[in-house]
Amino acid sequence: MLKKTMVENHMPTNTFVPEQDPFLDLPVFPPDEILNLAERYKNDPRKSKKNCSLGIYVNQDGKVVQPQVFREIDTKLAQIEYLPIDGEDKFLQLTNEVFLNGLYHPCAQTLGSSYGLRLALEFLFRFAGITQAIVQTPAWPNYLGILDAIGYSVKKLDYLNENGNADITQLLEVLSQIRKPVCVIFQVGCHNPTGVDLSPQQIKELNDFILRHYPKVMLIADFCYAGFRPLNLDLEVLKLLSVPHFLSFSYSKNAGLYSRRTGGLYFIGPTDHLDRITGCLRKIIRSTYSSPPIDGAYMVTQVLSNPEMKSRWFEELASYRERLTSLRQAFSQAFGDPLSGIIKNQNGLFSFIHKSFLREELRESKKAQELLIERHGIYTVQLEDGLRINLAGLKDPNSASEFGLLLNDQIVRPI
Ligand SMILES: Cc1ncc(COP(=O)(O)O)c(C=O)c1O
Repeated sequence: MLKKTMVENHMPTNTFVPEQDPFLDLPVFPPDEILNLAERYKNDPRKSKKNCSLGIYVNQDGKVVQPQVFREIDTKLAQIEYLPIDGEDKFLQLTNEVFLNGLYHPCAQTLGSSYGLRLALEFLFRFAGITQAIVQTPAWPNYLGILDAIGYSVKKLDYLNENGNADITQLLEVLSQIRKPVCVIFQVGCHNPTGVDLSPQQIKELNDFILRHYPKVMLIADFCYAGFRPLNLDLEVLKLLSVPHFLSFSYSKNAGLYSRRTGGLYFIGPTDHLDRITGCLRKIIRSTYSSPPIDGAYMVTQVLSNPEMKSRWFEELASYRERLTSLRQAFSQAFGDPLSGIIKNQNGLFSFIHKSFLREELRESKKAQELLIERHGIYTVQLEDGLRINLAGLKDPNSASEFGLLLNDQIVRPI
C-alpha cells in the first residue's frame, strides 16, 4: 500500500495529494465465470475429466487445434513497421469477399470480434447519440460487460420461446414502442450459447421492420463462427440484411487465431457518411491501442490469397462440422422429445439445455454445473437460462451418448 509520505516525497510540491490511499475503495470483481472454469479444469487432477465449458474447438483428444494451413505460414515474413490505424486493407477485402458476399464496407481490422463490437458500440454511443441497447438473452455474456463499460442502458429480452426456438416477436413489440434510438446485437449463426439460430424468415422480418423504423434501430451483427455450419447458410442470412448495420467478424475459432486477436469491423449503409464514420472509428482506435497487430491478419491474407490453401482450410472446417454433427446426433438421442428434437436442430459448437428442462432443484445457483464437476469431472457452463455444453469437448459419439444418458439420468427432469 502506498504511504502518504512516500507519495509526497515523489510529487512536485504543487500537486494535489489525496487525503487517503486512492486504491482503498476499489470495487472487488469476482473472476470471469467462464475463464475461471478453465482454470479449475486445468487444476483438476482427475484423468477422466472432460472440458465442455469453453467456446473453443478442440479435437477428439481435447487439444485446441489450429487448421493445418495456418501452421504453415511463417509470420517472420510479415512487415515489421506499424500497420495503419484501421489495419491491413487486403485482409479486410479478402474477408469481405470470402465471408461477407463482398457486400460490406470495411471499417477496421480489430482485435477479434470482442473489439469489433466494442468499437462499433463505442462509436454509436459517443458520436451517434445512441445510448440504449437491447440484448436477447441468453447471449454471449460479454455483450453485457461491453455495454456496461461504455455506459449503455440495457434492456434484456428472452431469445428462446418455450419450445426452444429463437423468438423475435417480443423484440419487435418492444422496438415498435421505443422513443429513443437503440442498438440491437444479433448473432449471424451458431449462436453462443444456445446453438439456436434465427431462421431466414425471422431475419427478413427483423430487417423489414428495422427498415420501417430506421434510424431508430441500429443493428450490430456478430459473426464469430463462420465455417461451423455450412457457409452458404450464413451468406444467405447476410444477403437478407439490407438495413444500415455494423458487422463484427472473428477468426478466433475458425482459424485458431484466438490469441492472435484477429477480426474486422464492417458496415453497410449510406456511403455519404462513410468517411466520417471511419474517421470516428480511427479516432477511437488511435486513442485505445493506436494500431492493430499484424500476425493474424497476415496469416489470413496468405491463406485466402492461395486457392490451394483456402480449399485445404475449408476441407478441415468441413471435418469439424462433420464431427460436431455426429456428436450432436449421438448426444441428442439420449433424450426424450421434445428435448431430443430441440438439440438435434442446434448448430455449431454448443448444445443448450434450457432451464425448464432441468430438474427443479438444479435450476439455480449453478447447481447442475457444480454437480457435474464434483461428481463426474465434467465441466459445462450453467447460465441463468440453462446449461451450455461445448460438444467438441466430448471425445466421440460414444462418449457424447454416454454423457447424454448421464444428463438425462441426473440433471434433466422427467419429460
Ligand atoms: C458470440 C461471440 N461473440 C464474440 C466472441 C469474442 O470472440 P473473439 O473476440 O475471440 O473474436 C465470442 C467468443 O467466444 C463469441 O462466442
